[in-house]
Amino acid sequence: MFKHAIVRKPCADMVKGITSAKLGKPDFEKAILQHNSYVNALKSCGLNVKILEGNNKFPDSTFIEDVAICTKEFAVISNPGALSRRDEKDGMKTILEEYYKNIFEILFPGTLDGGDVMMVGNHYYIGISDRTNQEGANQLIQILKKNNLSGSVIPLKTMLHLKTGLSYIENNNLLVYGEFVNMPEFNKYDRIIIDANEAYAANSLWINNKVLVPKGFPKTKKKIEKAGYITIEVDTSEFRKLDGGLSCLSLRF
Ligand code: GLY
Repeated sequence: MFKHAIVRKPCADMVKGITSAKLGKPDFEKAILQHNSYVNALKSCGLNVKILEGNNKFPDSTFIEDVAICTKEFAVISNPGALSRRDEKDGMKTILEEYYKNIFEILFPGTLDGGDVMMVGNHYYIGISDRTNQEGANQLIQILKKNNLSGSVIPLKTMLHLKTGLSYIENNNLLVYGEFVNMPEFNKYDRIIIDANEAYAANSLWINNKVLVPKGFPKTKKKIEKAGYITIEVDTSEFRKLDGGLSCLSLRF
């Protein structure tokens, strides 16, 4: 179960964020409202939410998941792969020290985005992507090993991040989309296959036995409910315009 979340408000310059989505520019005012609703959804799952102010130096900084990996016992400050996002991690150590005694760091030439890291119990799957390189993954695996956890790598073909197409929602249930559907690594899970026209909802978010699902993906919502979960719909349309999903908007631990 998670107790805490950290989020960062969107900044006005989010309109300059990195994107491949071709859905137009995000509406900042609408994004602020959607972000408030997201925070309320996290609170309704029982989390204490620390809300950081928007940081106009970094248009993508609301996607705070990418700058750290938070386990039960320790945190790891990542080294984001996109150059325009690299220094988003500055200041995170002080913030994480409020919660953790042990904080590690991924160091250059290693790069790693938190969006490429999926926790399944004591094991962490790490996507090798345009953002996360083998060196970054190796550093994380060493940190995990030293702390009695484990990690393994999953090479990505087309996805931005590992969790763009995979979400572990506990109880052995895994949402799976696209290039991950036939990967033998995931055969042992009860896979919930996400339809191509609902691909964005493959990034849904388990929190304390509820699952946040992006608004507008009824087939995925139904599948998750059929697996036994209460779902909470959250509108993330403005973040989707920047390739961001539900998990990208918080650190949970
Ligand atoms: N716009 C979010 C990202 O590309 O990392």
